[in-house]
Amino acid sequence: MKQRRKIVVLGSTNTDMVIAGARIPVPGETVSGGKFLMNPGGKGANQAVAVARLSARRGVCTFVAKVGDDLFGRETAARLKREGIAARLVVDPAEPSGTALIMVDAKGQNVISVALGANGTLVPADIAPFAADVAQATVLLLQLETPVETVLAAAKAARAGGATVILNPAPARKLPRALYAQLDWITPNETEAEILTGVRVTDVASARRARDWFQARGVGHVLVTLGAKGVYCGDCDRIFPSRRVKAVDCVAAGDTFNGAFAVALAEGRDCADAIAFAQKAAAISVTRPGAQSSIPFRRELP
Ligand code: RIB
Repeated sequence: MKQRRKIVVLGSTNTDMVIAGARIPVPGETVSGGKFLMNPGGKGANQAVAVARLSARRGVCTFVAKVGDDLFGRETAARLKREGIAARLVVDPAEPSGTALIMVDAKGQNVISVALGANGTLVPADIAPFAADVAQATVLLLQLETPVETVLAAAKAARAGGATVILNPAPARKLPRALYAQLDWITPNETEAEILTGVRVTDVASARRARDWFQARGVGHVLVTLGAKGVYCGDCDRIFPSRRVKAVDCVAAGDTFNGAFAVALAEGRDCADAIAFAQKAAAISVTRPGAQSSIPFRRELP
C-alpha cells in the first residue's frame, strides 16, 4: 500500500427522483399517496460520498465522472466540493446529466430506472487528463454505469501504478475476459453474481462456486453481498451475517458498503475487519431515506 492513501472512484453521477409509497405499482397500474424526494445519487457518486464521509480525514477521495452542461451537472460539482471530494468532471455538451427514477415501498425495497445521459459517453480519452490521479491511487473503485471500455482502461492504469482495484459489478452485464484479470476484488450482490456466473447464490456452497468462477478468470478476491442475509467472503469461505435493523430504504446500501470497504482496505484492514466496517455503514444507510442522504459519517459508526 502507498504511504498517502488516495481512493479514486470512477463512475456515474445521477439525480434521483424518488417516490416512497406503500407499494411499487405493477405495469399499467397507478398507485397514489407516496412522498417525493429529489436526491443526489448515481452508483459512482454514492460510492465517492461514502469514501469521503467514512475516511478518517478529508481529501482522501477523487471522483472521475461525466456530466451534462446543465443545472444538475453544476449542482453535482458544487456538492462534491462540499463533501471534500476532488471532482474530475468531464462535461458533455450534447447529453444531459444522468437521472434515475426510483420507487421505494414500505419494506424499503426499490426499483430503479436510469437514463445514463452523459455517464454513458465517458470514453477512455475522457479520463486521459486524470492519468496521474489514477496512477497514484491506493485503491480504485469502479462500477458499471459507465462504458466498460473506460472501466477496463482505468483498471489497467491503476493496476500499473500498484493500486488495489475493486469492481462493484452493478448493474451487471457481460464483461470482457480481460477485465477480470485486472480485478483484485469483485463485489456483486446475489443477482449480479448469478447474471455474471450463472450460479444462483443461496448459501455458502453456491457462493463458493461463484467465487471459483470469478477466480478461474483471474479475479483476486470475491465478496457476494446477500442483503439482509449478510456477506459471503471468498477468502474466509463463510457468510458474515448482517446487523439487524429496521430498513426504510435500501437505495445506496450497496454503494455505502462498497465505499466503506474501499476505505477499510486502503487503511490496511484485513477482509473480516473491512467487511465488519462496511456492514456497520450499510446498516445505518438502510434506516434513512435516499441515496447520498442516507450515507453515514465515520463518527456515526458504532
Ligand atoms: O445504487 C443506487 C443508485 O443506483 C441510485 O442512486 C441511482 O442513481 C442508481 O444509479
